[in-house]
Amino acid sequence: MSTLEILEFPDPRLRKKALPIANVTAKEYDLASRMLAAMYKAPGIGLAATQVNIHKRLIVCDVSENQDNPLILINPVIRESYGCTESQEGCLSIPGFYETITRSSEILIDTIDQHGKPISKEANGTLAICIQHEIDHLEGKLFVDYLSSTKRQLIRKKLLKIQQMKD
Ligand code: NI
Repeated sequence: MSTLEILEFPDPRLRKKALPIANVTAKEYDLASRMLAAMYKAPGIGLAATQVNIHKRLIVCDVSENQDNPLILINPVIRESYGCTESQEGCLSIPGFYETITRSSEILIDTIDQHGKPISKEANGTLAICIQHEIDHLEGKLFVDYLSSTKRQLIRKKLLKIQQMKD
């Protein structure tokens, strides 16, 4: 099984809006386990299907210290959000850059879990931040969109330079 390739900013495919998954099948679980493998390998704490060029509403994350508590969220929707919190965020699609981003500190989401069951789930702390970041990906949104355009352009330029060197 080949490792999924993670798209990097400013790849325009990262801007596509993902579609809801109508039926959760073995295909979705296969995708989720491949995404988890790519996420752990990177290593990272979250990955959205958009980042591997699959435009379906599926995210995976694991914010546990030992990276042994994977979460698979299908069609996640934020129903309620409370408070606000600032933290340093990074992104596997924006390697090497970390910026302070403001998010809701607590969220309530509706989602389908890894067993195909619709559930509501509360999240706070790093998990809440991670889920908000990943749901943004499904909307084609990246953490650099919260920065000034000058800062975003600077990151874009630097990443393009690195990408050109790799080609
Ligand atoms: Ni990201």
